Amino acid sequence: MSKTIAMSGKGGVGKTTVSALLMRYFTNNLNSPLLAIDADPNSNLGETLGLDIEKTVGDIREDFMRDPQGVPSGMDKIIYLEMLMNQVLIEQKNFDLLVMGRQEGQGCYCMVNNILNRFADELEKNYKYLLVDNEAGMEHLSRRTSGKVDMLLMITDYALRGLRAVGRINEMLGDLKLDVKNKGLIVNRAPETLSRTFLDEVEKIGVPIVCIIPDDKNLLEFDMERKSMLELPNDSPAVIAIDNMMKEKIEV
Ligand SMILES: Nc1ncnc2c1ncn2[C@@H]1O[C@H](COP(=O)(O)OP(=O)(O)OP(=O)(O)O)[C@@H](O)[C@H]1O
Ligand SMILES: [Mg+2]
Repeated sequence: MSKTIAMSGKGGVGKTTVSALLMRYFTNNLNSPLLAIDADPNSNLGETLGLDIEKTVGDIREDFMRDPQGVPSGMDKIIYLEMLMNQVLIEQKNFDLLVMGRQEGQGCYCMVNNILNRFADELEKNYKYLLVDNEAGMEHLSRRTSGKVDMLLMITDYALRGLRAVGRINEMLGDLKLDVKNKGLIVNRAPETLSRTFLDEVEKIGVPIVCIIPDDKNLLEFDMERKSMLELPNDSPAVIAIDNMMKEKIEV
């Protein structure tokens, strides 16, 4: 069964950045099939990897709902939708990427959602690792059939507001019916020493810190120049932090 690593945390704290850094680690160090899922409706994981995203799973769903009769004659609608899903899967040398895209509008989406979710469930079986870049609410994760997350990375910036959001996500986990095996806290854009107040708050939440990422000016430069984060240099501070976490703190 595949191993799932998923991101959580409030808006803008670095979920996509950590996802891209993890993909850099995986593609450089582990030669195993990897599927990245961009589950944020405001998708931008592909961009950080230097990829152009033309169509998303959400686009397929909306197109189909707008014109349910658009299925080519003689073709079963399940086969048709699966064919379209295969077209949105972005296949790269070291990983594949599935972009979920916009959320559903109004209307009854059950049938089309069931087909798309079943396709995603089947697709996931082909990979050893799944990496899910979430929106803050984690709806995508709770929709998956298996509901299993091997490592939930909870990301905060160096601010109590980000940390409290992590606390709330942690409390919400029970309601989501997710089977979360391990949880780890990542403090992003952190100074060299974390304050006592911050650490006390971390202790209250009860999720262990697995990684501290300093501010990394290369990230800004790569973002501005639209360079793929997979090409970040080995000595970039954020790369070092994530690579160390993967080697020392996380069992994959
Ligand atoms: N350690 C860091 N050093 C410098 N810049 C960073 C660092 N981490 C993240 N950033 C920058 O902060 C911005 C927000 O990061 P990112 O997009 O990863 O957050 P996010 O949690 O995915 O946001 P959203 O909730 O909108 O999806 C990006 O421009 C990113 O380049
Ligand atoms: Mg993001």
